[in-house]
Amino acid sequence: MIQLHDKQFVPFISANEIAEAIDKMAAEVTADMGTEIPVFIGVLNGSFMVVSDFMKAYKGACELSFIKMASYEGTSSTEEVKQLIGLNQDLTGRTVVIIEDIVDTGNTLVEIKALFEARNIKELKIATLFYKPEAYKKDIKIDYVGIAIPNKFIVGFGLDYDGHGRNLSEVYQLKE
Ligand code: IMP
Ligand code: MG
Repeated sequence: MIQLHDKQFVPFISANEIAEAIDKMAAEVTADMGTEIPVFIGVLNGSFMVVSDFMKAYKGACELSFIKMASYEGTSSTEEVKQLIGLNQDLTGRTVVIIEDIVDTGNTLVEIKALFEARNIKELKIATLFYKPEAYKKDIKIDYVGIAIPNKFIVGFGLDYDGHGRNLSEVYQLKE
């Protein structure tokens, strides 16, 4: 068990399970890309670990950029999502693959989709390491899912509770 700020968390997903899920996603994306050279877009801050491991597992030609959004304070999702850092690369005609740490309500995805709709890209695909199907309220298709999890708050592997826990190499779940 670990303590972050005022809350306790228990081990939930091992480093091995995470590695396997990322390898599986990278293999699926590789198979789908054919001769396409995708632009991967990592969503900061949470995605930095999954992007790093995903890039190492992806064997084809590819490019990488990051954007930064924020929607979370404490342990419950707020309705407000804002873009903090955009990207200025020309994406005309490109296949873009968003790489997320986690999709919860889907509010962030809606914002991201709107950002890319204005850019004349060829195709937008979504990859997320973790996905909470019970919390997801949108109809945007999620193309690649690492691990579907129950609707409970998790930390580790890039995910934080009020800024703490991102450095954990396993995932922990909020203790009830
Ligand atoms: P959504 O907009 O509700 O889908 O939430 C997306 C963002 O909320 C993610 O990119 C995370 O930054 C954060 N988030 C959602 N669920 C969790 C969680 O269980 N732990 C930590 N952060 C989370
Ligand atoms: Mg995120």
